[in-house]
Amino acid sequence: MRKKLVISTGAGMSAESGLSTFRDAGGLWANYPVMDVASADGFARNPALVHRFYNERRHELVKASPNAGHRALTELEQWYDTFIITQNVDDLHERAGSHNVLHLHGELMKVRSMRDENRVYTLDKDNLDTSTETRDIHGDPVRPHIVFFQEAVPNIEPAIKLAQEADIFVVIGTSLVVYPAAALLNYVRPGVPIYYIDPNPAPVPSYVHVLKMPATQGVHELVNILNPDNQ
Ligand code: OAD
Repeated sequence: MRKKLVISTGAGMSAESGLSTFRDAGGLWANYPVMDVASADGFARNPALVHRFYNERRHELVKASPNAGHRALTELEQWYDTFIITQNVDDLHERAGSHNVLHLHGELMKVRSMRDENRVYTLDKDNLDTSTETRDIHGDPVRPHIVFFQEAVPNIEPAIKLAQEADIFVVIGTSLVVYPAAALLNYVRPGVPIYYIDPNPAPVPSYVHVLKMPATQGVHELVNILNPDNQ
């Protein structure tokens, strides 16, 4: 039976695609007050600012491309049942060709109705901007399809299940400070190999194999380690 490989990614995964991380020097949260642009209170206070912030992020995203790390992760699908749990709101894993991607913090290229959260719409590449005036096909206002701070994380349950079922678990490019995503590691069964790729890794237990390097280099190494021909 094929092993289940579960990969949890954060902003560092997309750093080499030119998208800023949040907490590194010069990161997004150094330039924008996080509670203004990424919290439920902030959106209630000044929705126009929040729309503008995510419009800017979308314009950056459509100019960016998946990097060699995103692409190399897809190679693992030939040997393993591979699942990606990402905190990233970009679509670079999908554009690289990964098949199973679970977004924990929402998706930048989508908006949803403020009347019915189940009405989710993918934005057109040529029509990326939304505002407080934007209406969906039912005439209702929309908001970014982003999980704001102070909101529940709807996909955490399936993410926990994946972590519990993993035969191999990999963490890439996250500072492991935002919960509940950071707690996924705690659900991995004892004895399951865990790899963590990050040039500036957060403190982790000693049984975690740390690859202290950027994602492009680290995933290349990971593919060599996990290639069954090399085991
Ligand atoms: P952070 O900005 O907190 O952490 C980025 C991590 O990426 C750090 O550990 C860096 O060392 C690492 N890093 C930097 N360059 C890298 C590279 N080339 N290759 C690999 N790793 C690299 O980002 P996250 O941990 O993803 O949520 O942040 C979690 C959440 O906080 C985000 O999803 C976002 C933010 O608030 C929302 O906005 C809802």
